[in-house]
Amino acid sequence: MPQPPVSPDQLKDACLLLVDDEQTNLTLLRLILGRAGYTRVHTLSDARDVLPLARALNPDLVVLDLRMPTMSGFTVLEGLVEQTAPDEFLPILVVTGDASQTARQRALKLGAKDFLTKPFEATEVLLRIHNLLVTRMLHESLRSQNELLEAKVKERTKQLERAVVQAEEANRAKSVFLATMSHELLTPLNAVIGFANELQKNHARNLLPQDLAYLQRISTNGLHLLRVINDVLDLSRVEAGKMDVDLAPVALDRVVAAVLKEMESRSVGTAVVPRVSLPPSLEPIEADEAKLRRVLINLVDNAVKFTDSGSYRVGIITESGTGRPLRLDVVDTGIGIAPDRVEKIFGAFEQVESGTRRRHEGTGLGLAIARALCEAMGYRLTAVSEPGRGSAFSVLFSPDAAPPRSYDDALRAYTPSSSEVPTRGT
Ligand SMILES: Nc1ncnc2c1ncn2[C@@H]1O[C@H](COP(=O)(O)OP(=O)(O)OP(=O)(O)O)[C@@H](O)[C@H]1O
Ligand SMILES: [Mg+2]
Repeated sequence: MPQPPVSPDQLKDACLLLVDDEQTNLTLLRLILGRAGYTRVHTLSDARDVLPLARALNPDLVVLDLRMPTMSGFTVLEGLVEQTAPDEFLPILVVTGDASQTARQRALKLGAKDFLTKPFEATEVLLRIHNLLVTRMLHESLRSQNELLEAKVKERTKQLERAVVQAEEANRAKSVFLATMSHELLTPLNAVIGFANELQKNHARNLLPQDLAYLQRISTNGLHLLRVINDVLDLSRVEAGKMDVDLAPVALDRVVAAVLKEMESRSVGTAVVPRVSLPPSLEPIEADEAKLRRVLINLVDNAVKFTDSGSYRVGIITESGTGRPLRLDVVDTGIGIAPDRVEKIFGAFEQVESGTRRRHEGTGLGLAIARALCEAMGYRLTAVSEPGRGSAFSVLFSPDAAPPRSYDDALRAYTPSSSEVPTRGT
């Protein structure tokens, strides 16, 4: 059975203040209330004492006569309402011999919550008092809940403020660590690479082929380490919001051409053919050119690395009718990615192949950095793939740009395309 919102014990424990200049009325009311189980009933026959006593008692209900010789009930009513807090509900039940409409309306207007005329009927008085008390108790419990809530909100706000301060401190510590680390690691590393390169020149002609091979390995591994350290530092910088983004109008076709030229050397000797699909008209895009280049290099690098033979395509899709760039795709015909890995590979150090089974070089930072850079410029980076057929990575330049729904969808966007520009002897 559902619990009543206010328990009978709570009601019977309520503090009641009865005010009437007629002692007999007070006695009668006290008797009725006592029989009904009310235990805390106070009576007053001099109206002048009501306000101070009410302040001291903080009653849950006042039963008030209107016609009293020392002070009018209306005046008492006004005083009671005035000294009650605005968010408190103090039920005042007026019980009077004056049954006129004027008296009733005036009392209600001044703040009385209910009205009864004498002679009263015991059951009716009890019912009205019961109802008023229930309302009072509900009000009180609401008030205390509110206070509790307010206290909780205050406490949580304080905790949050503390957490923000801690986070800021941690962030500052991270920045200091990064600055120190970049100096402490990069300075000796650059020396290692620089001196290895210098020695490799074999000026004195006294180094054996074996020595030169070792030096070559020092240099290659040093450069690899340099790249990893720079990637980690970059990723931390973007994640800490410390990477400045310099937005300016950029011609996308120029960026694509430059990146493909730069990557040409990487695909030499492989059977991977690059293709480019550009729309007939292409507006410049607001971008940080160096960062956009870096994103594209990472995507093309992956396309080449994870495609044994076949091709990859860099394509741009614009809004129809205008040349506004919506999306840039890098679509390959490589090994593809299992569906449950497609989102994961954007995490730092996430690679599909792991441990000793890895056939491809890399640290697993390229996509994490590419996505972070895209987000820093206000873009999104998404992927769709089909294992065994290929993958498509898309940079979405604007919120209204839709990513390809599937790998086939990405392929379809560019076939057949009259604007296709094969870039290497195809
Ligand atoms: N085009 C792709 N085709 C298939 N798998 C891919 C492709 N691009 C990324 N992946 C998978 O996602 C992983 C993470 O890619 P990411 O570029 O972050 O790292 P990486 O290429 O291994 O190393 P790094 O880019 O740091 O040199 C790759 O190791 C690979 O397993
Ligand atoms: Mg990569």
